[in-house]
Amino acid sequence: SQTRLWGGRFGGGPSEALTALSKSTHFDWALAPFDLAGSRAHARVLHRAGLLTDDELTSMVGALTELSAEVAAGTFTAVQADEDVHEALERGLTEKLGGLGGKLRAGRSRNDQIATDLRLYLRHHVRTLVGELASLQEALVGLAERYRDVAAPGMTHLQHAQPVLFAHQLLAHAHSIARDVDRLQDWDRRTAVSPYGSGALAGSSLPLDPDAVAAELGFDRATDNSIDGVSDRDFAAEFCFVAALIGVHLSRLGEEVVLWTSTEFGWATLDDAWATGSSIMPQKKNPDIAELARGKSGRFVGNLTGLLTMLKGLPLAYDRDLQEDKEPVFDSMEQLLLLLPAVTGMMATLTLRPEVLEAAAPQGFALATDVAEWLVRQGVPFRSAHEISGAMVAYCEQRGLELDELTDEQLTEVAPELTPEVRSVLSVRGALAARQARGGTAPERVAEQLESLTELARQH
Ligand code: ARG
Repeated sequence: SQTRLWGGRFGGGPSEALTALSKSTHFDWALAPFDLAGSRAHARVLHRAGLLTDDELTSMVGALTELSAEVAAGTFTAVQADEDVHEALERGLTEKLGGLGGKLRAGRSRNDQIATDLRLYLRHHVRTLVGELASLQEALVGLAERYRDVAAPGMTHLQHAQPVLFAHQLLAHAHSIARDVDRLQDWDRRTAVSPYGSGALAGSSLPLDPDAVAAELGFDRATDNSIDGVSDRDFAAEFCFVAALIGVHLSRLGEEVVLWTSTEFGWATLDDAWATGSSIMPQKKNPDIAELARGKSGRFVGNLTGLLTMLKGLPLAYDRDLQEDKEPVFDSMEQLLLLLPAVTGMMATLTLRPEVLEAAAPQGFALATDVAEWLVRQGVPFRSAHEISGAMVAYCEQRGLELDELTDEQLTEVAPELTPEVRSVLSVRGALAARQARGGTAPERVAEQLESLTELARQH
């Protein structure tokens, strides 16, 4: 029997190679539940337009509901002859309803169906993604809370720069995750527009009601332009961008965990359940989750660039190239949903070594800026203050001393401006407490972030 959705004007074919190239059911099956939801909404609109009788609607909706259950249970699947998810599901419907099954296709096209299905798929899974991001945010905040008083070396160029609270560093990661959640919510607002009713590209001559379909499918409204409706993949590209950025954020966090858990840093230890061993070296405990986070960022970026490159030369409206939009989108979604729980677990169970962090915090003359700023408060221009503090560092470096180990005489020898009072700023606690302004690493400012980020995570 003919299950193809087209063929009336064709004498023969399609060739085997074309069929193989064209087939998409091995990946677009992920859209089946959304395609069926669209079909139910479309059936009701056809009924209201007088194109289905009451009985026909009842049978149609009944068959679609049955089919949904079979798809969910895995008892209805695509067969070799099905080109795509739409064709497979129409076959399923006609197997149940005979000729009546063929009525559903009136006024719609695979072009507006696929555009709608992909939006529904993404909006559905983005909700889960937001939940996963909120969990990671909570894990970072929880870790920061547990070690809220621990000082650490703050670094630039991966060199000791100025002491910070380690919680401040952890919360910096939490802020980027919070922005990702915000991006997804903003994305959803633009994506909540239904292309259903656009048909192939020009809308339908049948008296359909795109807004009713939109409402039933949980969209805010229907598209204003049917050509845009079937052509627009901004939502897919934007999603892939946000996914790539999340991937980059997880990669940067992963890189830090790799550093922190190295013997050389020795700042943190991974929980056994969130680390792996070596097949030959019995002593190894490897940060594979952190490394996979770092490694997978490449494919997220690849998915984005692949999608944008596919889109860039396309004339309006639908072109078959658009079938290539799905795999990058699915891959980015699936990989993030795989990666995030692992990263969250790793961070939630990380053990810090506060004594190592505290001891390292002032090392590398990390309080030299505090000396310069103390001099500024004594009226020394910053240009000279920077010179004097630099000279103090050089003096200490030559003698193997720390800044706070200089005697009164040695201080004066470096510069007469360095009175013994300078020692008041030569402590890590003092340096932290002094950074009081908004955004600084002072304990009060960090406490405020802990509160606001906890509140944000709770909202999702
Ligand atoms: N399977 C196609 C896709 O994924 C949708 C069908 C549109 N096909 C067509 N020949 N107009 O984009």
